[in-house]
Amino acid sequence: MLPSRAADPDFNTSLAEKVQIVNEVLNQVLAEQQDIQTDLRESLRYTLSGPGKRIRSALILWCCELIAEGANANARSAAAALEMVHTYSLVHDDLPAMDDDDLRRGRPTCHKAFDEATAILTGDGLLTLAFEVLADRIDEPQLAVKLIGELARAAGSAGMIAGQVADLKAENTVGSVAMLEYIHTNKTAKMFRCAARMGALCGGAAPEPLERLGQYGLKIGLGFQIADDILDVSASSEQLGKTAGKDIQAAKCTYPAVVGIEQAKELERNLAREAVALLEPFGRRAEVLRQLAVALLDRNK
Ligand code: IPE
Ligand code: IPE
Ligand code: MG
Ligand code: MG
Ligand code: MG
Repeated sequence: MLPSRAADPDFNTSLAEKVQIVNEVLNQVLAEQQDIQTDLRESLRYTLSGPGKRIRSALILWCCELIAEGANANARSAAAALEMVHTYSLVHDDLPAMDDDDLRRGRPTCHKAFDEATAILTGDGLLTLAFEVLADRIDEPQLAVKLIGELARAAGSAGMIAGQVADLKAENTVGSVAMLEYIHTNKTAKMFRCAARMGALCGGAAPEPLERLGQYGLKIGLGFQIADDILDVSASSEQLGKTAGKDIQAAKCTYPAVVGIEQAKELERNLAREAVALLEPFGRRAEVLRQLAVALLDRNK
């Protein structure tokens, strides 16, 4: 059973708090970087200050709170690092050689606001800075190494990059559900699993809850990308802050294209149900994660 679908005021308040925390840490990290090349500082600031939903970084903070009964400074640093990797992935995803998009987070994409070379280098800068943040700011060396490994694996060639390669290769092909699951799990769901695990690790989780929260992250992450595909055909560019209808234009392999909107929505609901079931052993303490799984079903941007 899924909890009520009505937007929960506590959930929205909690998300708004997390967004503020993540934005503060991102600003602080950037402000503290001493020798960043001046032009690059501007493009980094431009991309990081865009109004992203910060769902993955909020997930880190919530998972840490669940385990440790409070988010700590390590979780805040991890959240900033993961948000940097996510933002880099969008900057590169939008490049002409990839999805060729002009609009992101309601503003011109990085390569439109600056130029293509700057966008490539801004992405490189964000990706590298994320690992610097983890190396420098996590106060326990063993935890830092674990977090670096988690993030590198999720974002790397057996994770997000694998998914992005498969996504581009699948353009103009007749997709299958198996192929879609591969693409979406790799390009998106593994970063959600990573976020949940990073938060749990910052909270000092034992192996069982760590694995369980990771599985929860994987489920909501797959659902998140299915919703992204659905929104691409059902929402407006204004609502999304990115150009709607791009997937059909680029003949992308998406859930609506392969199974149709109704079945895509059904799959999304099933994933949310499975995610909520994974939270059962945590009881009431996991309420915000339960709300997150449900809120993502109704997202409109
Ligand atoms: C967009 O992610 C890319 C996907 C994996 C679907 P988000 O929808 O989380 O984008 P922002 O961070 O809110 O801009
Ligand atoms: C991108 O998926 C996933 C990433 C790893 C960046 P999409 O290409 O569907 O994301 P949007 O729709 O451009 O945000
Ligand atoms: Mg893409
Ligand atoms: Mg794209
Ligand atoms: Mg999309």
